[in-house]
Amino acid sequence: MYRMAEILCATVKRTRILEVGFGMGISANALQRQKIERHTIIEPHPDMFGRLTQWRAECPDADIRPVQDYWQNQTSLLAEVDGVFFDTYAMDVTTLVDENVSFLVAAASHLKPGAAVAMFWVLPTIDEVQQEVLYKHYQRIVVEKVPVTPGTTGVQALARLGFLLAIIAIK
Ligand SMILES: C[S@@+](CC[C@H](N)C(=O)[O-])C[C@H]1O[C@@H](n2cnc3c(N)ncnc32)[C@H](O)[C@@H]1O
Repeated sequence: MYRMAEILCATVKRTRILEVGFGMGISANALQRQKIERHTIIEPHPDMFGRLTQWRAECPDADIRPVQDYWQNQTSLLAEVDGVFFDTYAMDVTTLVDENVSFLVAAASHLKPGAAVAMFWVLPTIDEVQQEVLYKHYQRIVVEKVPVTPGTTGVQALARLGFLLAIIAIK
């Protein structure tokens, strides 16, 4: 989470960041550690959203804007940001990859030129069809291998590899 927040913030010129999926707030803390200018967070789950509003209260001086919704209903927010940290959840890897690709395609028509999307690519490779989709919608794709402790990725297929690929797609 920390490395991906670091790469995303180093890629964009300004740091008005949209985070999709609050979860445990690990990436939210990682983004705040980067001293970002504005932090909008979309989270639909009532329990997670409660946690988010509590966490937000602990950072009174930061510009943090919680939005309780699914990203699919909030695509207009994409036009206002320099970067997106996308980390949602799905029951299996195929569904998660499909969700990631759907987001990248949907986001592309709203993002400003130069805006970037960061996400974990939860497969060890990017196949030709996926590359075609990525390059159809984005100017530049940065891929970085991020080490993780085996067994802590939450993605069983990658647990033994000890890394995840972080992708930054730049419009
Ligand atoms: C893997 S967790 C995020 C982990 C987070 N990055 C962290 O560091 O703790 C996924 C989060 O995405 C949220 N989520 C799932 N579907 C979503 C959607 N369509 N739009 C926005 N958030 C979604 C879930 O409720 C959950 O809180």
